[in-house]
Amino acid sequence: MIDLGFSKGLTEFAANQQGSFFVYDLDALSDHIANLQNDHIKLWFAVKANPLSSVIQTLDRQGMNFDVASVGELEQVLAQGIRPQRILNTGPAKSAQQLALFLQRGVNTYVVESINQLKLLNQLAESVDFKPQVLLRVQLRFDDDGDNPLGGNSLTPFGLGIDEWSEIDLADYSKVDVVGLHIFQWGNMLDGAKLISLWQQMITPLKALALTLNFEFKVLDLGGGLGIPYAGEQTKLDWATLVAALNIIKQQANVNELWLELGRFAVGEYGHYLTKVVDRKINYQQQMLVLEGGINHLLRPAITAQPFPVQLLRKSDGDFEPFHLHGPLCTSLDKLGVLALPNDVAIDDHLVFSQCGAYGFTEAMPFFLCHSLPAEVIYQAGEFKVIRPTQPASSYLF
Ligand SMILES: Cc1ncc(COP(=O)(O)O)c(C=O)c1O
Repeated sequence: MIDLGFSKGLTEFAANQQGSFFVYDLDALSDHIANLQNDHIKLWFAVKANPLSSVIQTLDRQGMNFDVASVGELEQVLAQGIRPQRILNTGPAKSAQQLALFLQRGVNTYVVESINQLKLLNQLAESVDFKPQVLLRVQLRFDDDGDNPLGGNSLTPFGLGIDEWSEIDLADYSKVDVVGLHIFQWGNMLDGAKLISLWQQMITPLKALALTLNFEFKVLDLGGGLGIPYAGEQTKLDWATLVAALNIIKQQANVNELWLELGRFAVGEYGHYLTKVVDRKINYQQQMLVLEGGINHLLRPAITAQPFPVQLLRKSDGDFEPFHLHGPLCTSLDKLGVLALPNDVAIDDHLVFSQCGAYGFTEAMPFFLCHSLPAEVIYQAGEFKVIRPTQPASSYLF
């Protein structure tokens, strides 16, 4: 059972709420971010994980900086009053229009993912009165392979290999200041020792590249990839162990600054998704629940085959049984898992899915079949507040 610190109030709140919703525990999130802060690592929040205004504001109050990967994310962060100097731009699809806008808005840190991006940024930088600082994004190949959402060893558009970067002459890019390297190939890692080992393996080739290109290697950005447990038997990463290892890596790489762009690890554990049971049936001797919301609100189980942990909102003394949990879409992909629930679960009961604070609302496929959009609710200082009310299909259909 996941401890929902605010579950008493949540039952009452959910009873009066129309439709499915996400709820974010901002007090707990704030404490978590405060605990992550330390003197060795500069922390950026990967906004793609959760761009809700109040999440950004909470992280801002705890001193996080912001990694944005689109114009939409940039404008959302700026709208929360964040200064452009605390924003960096990542992403493989930076058009000339996008880069020009970022420069115009005053963003001065760029993770450059291709030679064209470097050329474009260098050209466009002529029109601003500051020299953008650049990190070149590098892809490496490791002995230790495995499937991974960020690509692992496979070919991805995220950056370039050492050979490709080695071809450039930085003298051709005098309008930008190349200060470091960025590398990030492994997502949702829960094995701390493997993560540290991968980071360590990066140091030698990255230092060699900096030497080849003849720039002072001041910043090493290791991206994100720190996982959170989605299944009961998984254990959390130990942050203190990672910080100690990263501090050694920082010294070995001989850089002034070590950066992480945290998404899932920053916000994942502080969001929950609530939806109602619409139908219950036995089909081919299997217990099945059909829910109001499925992958139209929460896509991750369909793309990773990994369910979010679930529990019944109300108390029950029923014995636990496995239930096949399906959403409302006309595809068998719309399945949130086969998970244990009390056997008295019934139509109109609320289910609470946890670990949904990252890659939830904005990662889903909400338009298919024209269902309502879920609401987004915050829990702060003991109160629930609806930030985004649920919206019917008429709000997005033309
Ligand atoms: C460039 C970049 N940085 C950071 C992140 C955040 O990753 P995570 O959620 O694993 O921390 C992502 C996620 O895709 C990313 O693309």
